[in-house]
Amino acid sequence: MSQHLIEKLFLPDGSPYALSSAMCARSGSGKTTLLTRLVADARKNPKFKETRFIYVSVKEEHLFGPDIEPISDIGEALKSMRKNPITVFYPMDAEYYEGEVDSIIEGVFRLSSEKRKKDEPEPSFVIIIDDANILKGFDSRGQPSPMVKKLTIAGRSKRIRGMFILHRLANLPRLMNGNLSSLIIMNISQMDNDYGKKIFGIEFDSIIGELGEYRWAYVDLLKESISKYNPIEPAVFKPKKKKKSRARSIFSL
Ligand SMILES: Nc1ncnc2c1ncn2[C@@H]1O[C@H](COP(=O)(O)OP(=O)(O)O)[C@@H](O)[C@H]1O
Ligand SMILES: [Mg+2]
Repeated sequence: MSQHLIEKLFLPDGSPYALSSAMCARSGSGKTTLLTRLVADARKNPKFKETRFIYVSVKEEHLFGPDIEPISDIGEALKSMRKNPITVFYPMDAEYYEGEVDSIIEGVFRLSSEKRKKDEPEPSFVIIIDDANILKGFDSRGQPSPMVKKLTIAGRSKRIRGMFILHRLANLPRLMNGNLSSLIIMNISQMDNDYGKKIFGIEFDSIIGELGEYRWAYVDLLKESISKYNPIEPAVFKPKKKKKSRARSIFSL
């Protein structure tokens, strides 16, 4: 994947592109698979050395491989973010999804403004919320929760970026209009296309028929340009080999 695209999407460097982004497509179009690959590619780029990714899945599923153990405790998830490049968080209580997501975002803002020693590198953060349309307020007429609002409006200057993964463009709260730098679209409907025209002033007519079957497009909302891409090769994570125990290695000699 082009690192330029990956940086525009994820690098929390305070630049004009470092606003939040969204990914929209019908269920089953390959959003989670694509997202996982994009994050895996970002991890290979040295510019992301100090970037911590947190992937929030209300569906309680992730594709980052067997070495990443999902966490459901907010404190533990934030602790994991201090040292691990990728943390997976599963909110468990459907009654309080919004509250749990808000606590995570609030915690990340706290982490970002912690005092650091002089020689300590400055961390930055990407908060990915998959299937965000399940959360209250993800609706063109809805108001997202206070911390989702804060992330969208105030994240950039704190080196925190959000990525919201949704089924429909119309799941994007109006507040996000003008506060996002990038969109990824996959298989979308004509209704989404109409909505995109109305809200973002962008025509997807020329590409809408070519999406589907895991093809996708990157929409640069600052330049109002669209680039099309073929399906990605899904990322494959092999479990890390456990070190052989001493007894076993002697035995195998
Ligand atoms: N680029 C791809 N190539 C091959 N299979 C894919 C690709 N992207 C997704 N899939 C398959 O399609 C199914 C749905 O993908 P998923 O990422 O879960 O979609 P979504 O998150 O949009 O619901 C999965 O079985 C996945 O393995
Ligand atoms: Mg998914």
